This record gives sequence, structure tokens and C-alpha cells, in this order.
Amino acid sequence: MNFIKRFLLSFSSLLLLTNSSPVPTILDTDIGTDYDDQVALTYILARSDLFDLKLVICSSFNTTARAQIVAKTLSVFKRFHVPIAIGNITGVNNVWEFEWAQDYSLEQFSSDGGTVYQNGEEALANEMGKATSENIYHYIQIGPATSLAHVLESNPSLSKYIRLFAMAGSIYYGYDNTSTPSKEYNVATDIPAAQIMFSSEWLYFGLAPIDCTNFMQFNGLIWQQFLNYVISSSAVRSILTSYAVWYANGGKNIDAMEPFSPGTGTSTMHDVLAAFLAGAYTDVSPTISEILPLVITRDGYTQVNASHGKGVNSCLKFETSNPYLSTTVVGSIVLESIIKPTNKS
Ligand SMILES: *[C@@H]1O[C@H](CO)[C@@H](O)[C@H](O)[C@H]1NC(C)=O
Ligand SMILES: *[C@@H]1O[C@H](CO)[C@@H](O)[C@H](O)[C@H]1NC(C)=O
Ligand SMILES: *[C@@H]1O[C@H](CO)[C@@H](O)[C@H](O)[C@H]1NC(C)=O
Ligand SMILES: *[C@@H]1O[C@H](CO)[C@@H](O)[C@H](O)[C@H]1NC(C)=O
Repeated sequence: MNFIKRFLLSFSSLLLLTNSSPVPTILDTDIGTDYDDQVALTYILARSDLFDLKLVICSSFNTTARAQIVAKTLSVFKRFHVPIAIGNITGVNNVWEFEWAQDYSLEQFSSDGGTVYQNGEEALANEMGKATSENIYHYIQIGPATSLAHVLESNPSLSKYIRLFAMAGSIYYGYDNTSTPSKEYNVATDIPAAQIMFSSEWLYFGLAPIDCTNFMQFNGLIWQQFLNYVISSSAVRSILTSYAVWYANGGKNIDAMEPFSPGTGTSTMHDVLAAFLAGAYTDVSPTISEILPLVITRDGYTQVNASHGKGVNSCLKFETSNPYLSTTVVGSIVLESIIKPTNKS
């Protein structure tokens, strides 16, 4: 216990010290279906010392429903100057978290001073176009790459001054830490889009594949401490209420390595690792990452391919032999950030 506490403290103080100026950031999300997007977005909003959030684009399936969840989250933080871009609707899927945002319409967001772009891809292209060698952007991709790929198809040079941090793929391990790779969801949902994302020219490409994200569950002591702030922190309250809605509406049935419930801890926070790596750039700790030449195959696998792959800084495992020691470090930093948001912007 003492060791874990000291370990956590030394890590969090190290990482919390590395703040220079906030980086212009685009978040591309399928928030509402799995719960990890909500924690990633909340972390990004809470850390205005690290991220200058310029645009949130909602991609895949019911993008209008997703946009409403983003709008409600922005309203919790009173961040009405962050525009929301609605990507193309690509079909019907579960949006288990939607009920949480039902009382806050996009019209309300607009009348509170917010901006909603109905043509999300156009707004995305415009924002990516603002990245230059003197104004480098982060792009945090935590859903299927549908919108991003449409934009890059007509304008491939837009990725040139952008660092991409993506939750995608499965390199050596699959879901539930199986020793064969899986067709990871974000890739499998739109394989041609993933192929475009992986073959584009990024200034940097940091990848959080399920090899590592499998272990991203926050529970035990750090979760119990987080629960203590439900009254005093509106950000904590918004996490706990949206998580409870998502869980009750179907989230409770999704697969995870460890059991989870709102009282005991989170489901698998796959996407949070991509956001965390963006915030800590250039540091990849507590992951062990390696630059691998990766391609997405036609059937949706992530393949190491020396002749055709582009170099991707891929998180392959964690520094500690027990991966949960490392992911608890990440969790403690993320949850602490949400408890005590920085107030720069
Ligand atoms: C999905 O989108 C349609 C509009 O395209 C909307 O009427 C419906 O209520 C949405 N909601 C959810 C939760 O899927
Ligand atoms: C996406 O939607 C926009 C309009 O909002 C449309 O112009 C564009 O063609 C669509 N893209 C695809 C690939 O469907
Ligand atoms: C993950 O799988 C590897 C290889 O099968 C195994 O050595 C390791 O103990 C597993 N980790 C966990 C936490 O289950
Ligand atoms: C690498 O990709 C190319 C093009 O898709 C393919 O022809 C080749 O077989 C791949 N190499 C390996 C080692 O899989």
C-alpha cells in the first residue's frame, strides 16, 4: 500500500510538472456508445493547461445524438467557445449515454453562445487547415476515422503539421488480452478510413492499441476517492451521472477484463490512453512504446509491414509487469485532473 502510494505520488508530480503552453487540439469522437469517450473529453476539458480545444467532431452512426452529449459536457464546463462539428450520419447504433443529455438540446447550446456546424467535415477541414509549422495541432482520434478520412481524401496535405494520437488497432494482443490480435472496433467499423489514417503523413503518430488499453480500468482506492467529490465538483458529478445512465441503458453488458459498476470503478477506458498520451507528449510513460511500420489490412487487422507501413509510435505494454499498476497511475492523474480542473482559459 505504502509503495503504491509513493509510486503514484512520484509519477503524478512528475507528469503534472511538465506543463508548457496548451496545444491546439481537435477531438474526433463517437461519444455515447462506449463510455470512455466521455472520460477522455472531460479530461481534455479539465486540463486546459495542456489542451486548447479548438473543435470536437462527432463521427459514425448517430452523430447528432453524439453532438448533444458533447454540448451538455461543454455546458458543464461553461466552454461555449468550443465548436461542435456534426460528422455524417452513417446508420443506427446504440447511444446508451444519450438520455443524460436529453435535457440539453443543441438549440440550447447555440442560445448559450455555442456553435454547431451541421457540415462537420467542412468545419474539420477548415480547422485542420489552421495547423502550420509554427502552430502545430494535436488530433485525438477516439472513434472510427470516417470524418477524418473523408477530409484527407480530398486534401491529403492537411495532416502535415498535426500530431495524431489514436485509439485504434490490435498489434500482438486482442480483446481480453488474448494472444491473437482482434479486429479492433474503431478500425473494423470503417476499414477504408483507418487505412487512410494510417497511410497519411503525420508529423507524429502515437497509437493506443488494445494491447495496452485492455488494462485501462480505474477502480479501487482511486475510484473511491473520486466518488467523494460528487457533491463538491460539478465535473465529477457529470461523470458519475452520465456513467450511471450509460451503465443502466446497456453499458453494463459490455465486455471488460475486470468487473465494473458505478460504485466500484470504470469500464475499459480505451480512449483515455490516447488522450493521456497526447497530454504527456513527448513522454510515453508509463507505457513502453516502439515505432513500428503499420498498415491496416483489407480485413481490418493491424499489421507490422516493413515494406508498406508508416512509422507509428505504438504502445505495446506497460512499464510495470503488472499492467494495472501502470494504468492506476494513469487513472489517478486523469481522475485527479477531473477533480481539480485547471483554470487557464
Ligand atoms: C438518432 O438520430 C435521429 C435523428 O437523425 C433522432 O431522431 C434520434 O432520436 C437519435 N437518437 C438516438 C439516441 O439515437
Ligand atoms: C458528408 O456530408 C456532407 C454534407 O454535410 C456531404 O457534402 C458529403 O458528401 C458527405 N460525405 C460522404 C462521404 O458521404
Ligand atoms: C496477458 O497475456 C500475457 C500473454 O498471454 C500474459 O503473460 C499476461 O499475464 C496477461 N496479463 C494479464 C494481466 O492478464
Ligand atoms: C505488406 O503489404 C503489401 C501491400 O498490401 C503486401 O503485398 C505484403 O504482402 C505485405 N507484407 C507482409 C509481410 O505482410
